[in-house]
Order: sequence, then structure tokens, then C-alpha cells
Amino acid sequence: MSKEQEYHPLISDPADDIDADPSPLGPSSWTARWTSKITRGMLAGLLTVETVALVISIVTLFKRVPHPTCTVPASSQRVLYSPALSAVEHEVQVYNVGFTGDLSPFQRPSSPKLDQMWSDLYNFGISRITKEEAAQLPNKTHAIPGDPGHYIAELDVFHNLHCLNKVRMALDPDYYPDWRISTTNNHIPSQKNATEHVGHCIDWIRQSIMCTGDTSVIVWQWENWVNASIVKGNVAHTCRKFDKLQEWAKDRMLLKAYDPTVHIEDDIVDRNSTRPIPTQQNSDYKPGPISPE
Ligand SMILES: *[C@@H]1O[C@H](CO)[C@@H](O)[C@H](O)[C@H]1NC(C)=O
Ligand SMILES: *[C@@H]1O[C@H](CO)[C@@H](O)[C@H](O)[C@H]1NC(C)=O
Ligand SMILES: *[C@@H]1O[C@H](CO)[C@@H](O)[C@H](O)[C@H]1NC(C)=O
Ligand SMILES: *[C@@H]1O[C@H](CO)[C@@H](O)[C@H](O)[C@H]1NC(C)=O
Repeated sequence: MSKEQEYHPLISDPADDIDADPSPLGPSSWTARWTSKITRGMLAGLLTVETVALVISIVTLFKRVPHPTCTVPASSQRVLYSPALSAVEHEVQVYNVGFTGDLSPFQRPSSPKLDQMWSDLYNFGISRITKEEAAQLPNKTHAIPGDPGHYIAELDVFHNLHCLNKVRMALDPDYYPDWRISTTNNHIPSQKNATEHVGHCIDWIRQSIMCTGDTSVIVWQWENWVNASIVKGNVAHTCRKFDKLQEWAKDRMLLKAYDPTVHIEDDIVDRNSTRPIPTQQNSDYKPGPISPE
């Protein structure tokens, strides 16, 4: 009997129980039976080891999922505290596309009127919040000297707009010479060197756009007049109502001058140094205790 035949039963009928096989086939058959038993034992052993290994791997993998401290995991829908969350309302907005035929009121030459329009967007952005609100911020802020129980704050939306306005000004240096981005040749002593500030602003806006991650969808639609599908920007966006945020800030506008040289100690815990940003794993995150003033 050839080796091939010898091992035939294993291959041809793996479901066949060798022990129950009623037909004795001589010495070679005996060898085959034992080979079969050993192989089955090894296979079963291997299968067990592999299964155990797989279970261990899966358990280890789940245990090793890092607990983020600086970013909120994608699964978390939690939003960090802001005293302006109560002012957040949504609405559907269609942007001005910004090309001829659909220009926004802001697309006009530099002028006092345009400066005023930009100023009206954000020039009330430094706010005065209560101690109770300040105590819930993820980052500690400072008390306002001479205004007991109130703290200084600024919603980033207004800082973003300020930044974009500076970039706009830098793009029209003949009208805004102070905001000319300096090169070694065009710097005049009377102007500010806006290079650093504008650089900060462009990168801040980049990070803000990436942070917000607008998932509104720009579409293509067929146009008979060109026999082509054309990209369409005038689509629906889910927006936070900007006027509600403006209202919030105007109601809390810091009117008197803020003296940054006065240090005021308080009992507000700096969450940054004591607690991680809330995640689903840390859903017991609560505002720290606030002592009466
Ligand atoms: C303007 O500021 C930039 C960035 O800080 C610096 O690299 C550059 O040398 C400055 N230019 C002048 C003319 O001072
Ligand atoms: C668009 O395609 C149709 C069919 O091929 C043709 O009759 C028509 O003239 C085209 N229109 C333009 C604006 O090219
Ligand atoms: C917050 O934490 C960072 C690093 O974790 C540290 O550099 C920074 O000074 C902290 N801020 C405060 C106000 O404690
Ligand atoms: C604000 O808190 C974040 C998150 O804990 C921390 O990384 C950052 O350094 C803090 N910044 C300040 C100015 O405290």
C-alpha cells in the first residue's frame, strides 16, 4: 500500500469516526487509525490554543484602547461647557456663493462702511461672566478687577471673526498700511509688522475650520445650457444662529477697561491641572464646588 493510500481515510472522509470503523484493513489500516487519532488530537489542541489566543487578543485589544486626555473620543457626543451653550440654536442657511450674481454684502471695496460692518460682527466680544459660569469652564479664567463676582471671557467665534478681518486687511495693504505683511523691502517704520499676527490668524482659522468639521454637502447638478453637471455652492447648511450668539455677548459685554496687571486669587479649581476633559469613560464630570463669596 502506498503512503497516499495509507492516509486516504483522513482525507476522503474526515467526518468518519475511525474508532467506529467496522472494517479491519490489516496493519496499514492500524497505522492510519493511530495517525488519524494523533492528527485529530493535534488539530483539536491547536484549535483550542488558537481560540484561547484569539480571546486573549480581543480582550487585550479592548483593554489597550487609550483613554484620551486631550481629545474627546469620536464616540462621545459630549460638548465641553460654555456659558453660551444656552444661546445655541440651529437654523438652515444657504451661503452667498460669492461670485457675480450671488455676492454677499461684505464683498465690497475697503471703506469705512466695510470696516463698520466687520466691527459690528464681533466688536463686543470680550464678555463678563459670573463666577458660577467661570467655575465650570474647562480652563480657568481671571476675575475682573473692581467687579466682584465677575470673570473675563471671550467666545472664540468672535476671535475667529477678528482674525479673518485682519487677514482681509492684510490683503489690501494700500488701504490698511498698518496691516501690510512685511517683507525685507516694504517695511516702513510707522507700520506694525503684521506678519506674525496674520500668520497666527490664518493658522487659527485653519484649526477652527478643522475643529468644526462642517459636513454640509456641496452638490453637482446638470445644466442644459452647458451640457454639463456643475458644482453648486448654494446648498443648505445647518448653522448656529449667529444673532443669538451676538445677543449673548452683547448682554454680557465687558464695558469698563480690564486691568490685566491686577492679580486676584480665588477658590476656583483649575480643571486643566486637576481633571481630564470629560469623556464617556469620565461621564461623572461635574462642576467643581463653588464657595460663597
Ligand atoms: C516681521 O515679523 C516677521 C515674523 O515675526 C519677521 O520674520 C520679520 O523679520 C519682520 N520684518 C520686519 C521688517 O521687521
Ligand atoms: C447639448 O447637447 C445636445 C445633444 O447632444 C445638443 O443638441 C445641444 O446643442 C447641446 N447644447 C449645448 C449648449 O452645447
Ligand atoms: C494646563 O496644562 C498644561 C499641560 O498639561 C500646562 O502647560 C498649563 O500650564 C496648564 N495651565 C494651567 C492654567 O494650569
Ligand atoms: C486648557 O485645558 C486643556 C485641556 O486640559 C489643556 O491642554 C490646556 O493646556 C489648557 N490651557 C490653559 C491655558 O490652561
